[in-house]
Amino acid sequence: MKHINVGIIGGTKGMGHWLAGLLQKENCTVHICGRKTVLEINDIARICNVVVVAVPISATADIIKQVGPLLAKDTLLMDLTSLKKEPVKLMLANSPAEVIGCHPLFGPALTDVSGQNIVLYPARGTKWFPWIKNICEKNKLVVLETAPDEHDKMMAIVQVLNHLNTILLGMAIAETDIPLTQINKFSTPIFKTKLEIIKKVFTESPGLYADIIMGNPQTGKMLDICEKTLTDIRQTIKSGGGMKLKEAIEKTAKKLF
Ligand SMILES: NC(=O)c1ccc[n+]([C@@H]2O[C@H](COP(=O)([O-])OP(=O)(O)OC[C@H]3O[C@@H](n4cnc5c(N)ncnc54)[C@H](OP(=O)(O)O)[C@@H]3O)[C@@H](O)[C@H]2O)c1
Repeated sequence: MKHINVGIIGGTKGMGHWLAGLLQKENCTVHICGRKTVLEINDIARICNVVVVAVPISATADIIKQVGPLLAKDTLLMDLTSLKKEPVKLMLANSPAEVIGCHPLFGPALTDVSGQNIVLYPARGTKWFPWIKNICEKNKLVVLETAPDEHDKMMAIVQVLNHLNTILLGMAIAETDIPLTQINKFSTPIFKTKLEIIKKVFTESPGLYADIIMGNPQTGKMLDICEKTLTDIRQTIKSGGGMKLKEAIEKTAKKLF
């Protein structure tokens, strides 16, 4: 394959910046653009044979619609969005380029990504998929070739349910009106770990978590499951006390593990 010019829209920070580092190591020339860079989306489309959309979820549709039509058939349009159904559909509808949906299942702060999972979905074309898959595998990422529907279904559990649980815990702790300084004096190892997760979700990028929850087609279903589970727990405690609750936990453990 001839020399590869990669353009990352949203490459100034976050996941786009992480991918820029990975691809530079693989001898690609990487051009990045953000909202304030000299290089603009039109320049990226003109000079690159691989274009990656790595902007916040809320801006992704507009950027795909902007850049997609500017690309040629033999180029690659790829995204890193944490949701896959909508972005992949939009890339296919708005560009003649080859299309790959990608979702790294880790954040940009991770220094060693070996052993981490990455979702790839070759939505159109066969030229570019082996290239990116090979780079991922060379860097010891575990590639999961997964269709967008299946990806979003799994993310409803791994991200939506998981983050809802963290948000619930954080908001419930705040609702007690007892200051964290006081609570922390009594903390256990598990509580400390959970509090670190709560701090990350509430202070680092709340917009990302909100977009992940709002954009997943199965969020309503996950909320229903949460409500039903909480009602069941309340009912179990009310009707049978500790014994019934213990039985319910053991029954679930058998199902899960
Ligand atoms: N963070 C994660 O843990 C994670 C993990 C996996 C996948 N993802 C996905 O990666 C994508 C980016 O998320 P992120 O967390 O990396 O976001 P981020 O840290 O906020 O970075 C967003 C990037 O997009 C640029 N940008 C924002 N609005 C733009 C616009 N309208 N036009 C052009 N560039 C724009 C920003 O550049 P300027 O600010 O310089 O304009 C920046 O380079 C999302 O789709 C997210 O779902 C994130």
